[in-house]
Amino acid sequence: MSAPKPLLIDETLVDKAVKLWKNGAVVAIPTETVYGLAADATNGAAVAKIYALKSRPQFNPLIVHVADAETAQRYVEWNAQAECLAQAFWPGPLTMVLRKKWPVASGQWPVIHPLVSAGGDTLAIRVPAHPVAQQLLKAFGGALAAPSANRSGRVSPTTAAHVRDELGDALPLIIDAGACEVGIESTVIDLTGTPTILRAGAITREMIENINIQLQTTKTKNISDLNHTSPLASPGQLASHYAPSIPVRLNATHVDADEALLAFGGTPLQGAAATLNLSPKGDLLEAAANLFSHLRALDKPQHRSIAVMPIPDDGIGEAINDRLQRASV
Ligand code: TXA
Ligand code: MG
Repeated sequence: MSAPKPLLIDETLVDKAVKLWKNGAVVAIPTETVYGLAADATNGAAVAKIYALKSRPQFNPLIVHVADAETAQRYVEWNAQAECLAQAFWPGPLTMVLRKKWPVASGQWPVIHPLVSAGGDTLAIRVPAHPVAQQLLKAFGGALAAPSANRSGRVSPTTAAHVRDELGDALPLIIDAGACEVGIESTVIDLTGTPTILRAGAITREMIENINIQLQTTKTKNISDLNHTSPLASPGQLASHYAPSIPVRLNATHVDADEALLAFGGTPLQGAAATLNLSPKGDLLEAAANLFSHLRALDKPQHRSIAVMPIPDDGIGEAINDRLQRASV
């Protein structure tokens, strides 16, 4: 993977983004996971623009991004588990689903628009670690709703070029800070009852259990449970998601000459029309960072399908396999 640029952006660019947000525009921003399509979460018309840009079903709620845990507590009912998780993993690739805080009459800050949570009484919220995302959130001072910056159902973007290719013409500004370090979307954990992982990510089940949070024992939802329509516990967990336009064939032990190969490890299968290796040295973190960009690069009409070599299910491997499984249905 190309190294992330550990930079801050020019203040004039920060000002430009903040002005656009105050005027209800949508701006693409980098985070440590994937690029996001960000808009002022308190502005219904701006949030509606996100749904329109993504062609996203209205029932699928968005994640709210804030600069720190203190700001998060303006918007959600905090609890001991949230505090524990925030101490351990924020800023970072963890999204918590908590009950919405209903605004008190004080009117200290504008409320999150109901469209963000698709009318539900919970809110998904996270504090991104990317220095540029932090810089932008601090300057903006409030809450930015930001789903991944791809059209609904497509592979998430891990570079500004991916965003430009898919949505460039429709956006007034794409902030480029290089390739995303993590490369797959944040872990989503529901804390409104027994803590449950709704979407696997870089913050793994083991990492969460290690800080003494007892998780619902079921693994991240089984793929066969996901082919239903609303109401969905985490509507982004539709079975078919993150899909390239050609078929994806998992756990390949051979590859045909008209296929592309997504390899893993030191001994890639031979004979494919094109091969990209997620991690020649078998490093799962490196594989996660390369997953979406490699899938995009292999998604070419001249290939019959993308054959994918087996990926170990340990640690972040669970999240990689989750995304690959969705890409294959
Ligand atoms: O890493 C990330 O989380 C990226 C970057 C941009 O921050 N964002 C992202 O957003 O992946 P999006 O909108 O593509 O995915 C949001 C996920 C979906 O699975 C959605 O269903 C779930 O979070 N979600 C949002 N609000 C929810 C809620 N109130 N309850 C349960 N799930 C929720
Ligand atoms: Mg997404």
